[in-house]
Amino acid sequence: MRTTHTINELKAYLQHHRNRGHRIALVPTMGNLHQGHLALVKAARQQADVVVTSIFVNPLQFGANEDLDSYPRTLAEDQRLLNETGNDLVFAPSPREMYPNGLDQHTRVTVPVITELHCGANRPGHFTGVATVVTLLFNIVQPDVAVFGEKDFQQLAVIRKLAQDLCLPVHVESMPTYREADGLAMSSRNRYLSPQERSKAVLIYQMLEATAEHIRKGRRDYTALTDQAVRSLAEQGFKPDYFNIVNSQTLAPAEYTDLQVTLLAAAWLGNTRLIDNISVDLKDASNH
Ligand code: PAJ
Repeated sequence: MRTTHTINELKAYLQHHRNRGHRIALVPTMGNLHQGHLALVKAARQQADVVVTSIFVNPLQFGANEDLDSYPRTLAEDQRLLNETGNDLVFAPSPREMYPNGLDQHTRVTVPVITELHCGANRPGHFTGVATVVTLLFNIVQPDVAVFGEKDFQQLAVIRKLAQDLCLPVHVESMPTYREADGLAMSSRNRYLSPQERSKAVLIYQMLEATAEHIRKGRRDYTALTDQAVRSLAEQGFKPDYFNIVNSQTLAPAEYTDLQVTLLAAAWLGNTRLIDNISVDLKDASNH
């Protein structure tokens, strides 16, 4: 497995494969890889001849008071895991390589409306940072397929819309959320949790699952369910950012007649912000 830190070297490597008609897959990450990331790499492996994983802690998607400086950077361990997983190339650029004229000077890609809800409401500029770096990565790598996780449900929706609206010639693929044995969604940020916080963190998933079960059984009083979940998380010591029940396609507040809804949650536990989601298919439950 090779690692490159420069766009020119990456392009030369990929040109060689493109000339031979090879199919290229991209897995964008910020590193500190866990099994959830590696599941994306395995899915990419099955769909392409060449798998490129990017590792770039993108400064453009972090707010001023967020964890850009403390975000875990573990390149050597990531390389070892990727090598074992059958990844072909690691692209690990510096911020200067990606934004040569500085962040303020760089052209942005902004996806409207869906980026203003949920995480976007609490993290202004975050999704513009994500959309910009993902567009940049798509243009550098020009992959046939790119694989993302449903763990970041809103991010996935933003990237799908971006690819569709700008007719980007890439197939966007998604993989289900990979969880720890107790149900906590795997995340690089889980390593910020103290042992006590770690055992409590699973309550977000349990709250999503309990609320999803009410919906599966026929409850449609979404506002009451949301209020109850927020209250209950707060009682358990979380600082909830939001707990929303939305239409899975539009991410707008769910309506009584929606046939697929997604429960989106974000909450602080101490200094760590955790997000998770569950989708509920109501096509078979429409007689409720
Ligand atoms: P990062 O948080 O490193 O995640 C990289 C990819 O892994 C994303 O597509 C994310 O949804 C997926 N992922 C994370 N945890 C997962 C889990 N438990 N199960 C399945 N997939 C999981 O998301 C980003 O980086 C960045 O915003 C990025 C898209 C790379 C742009 O900078």
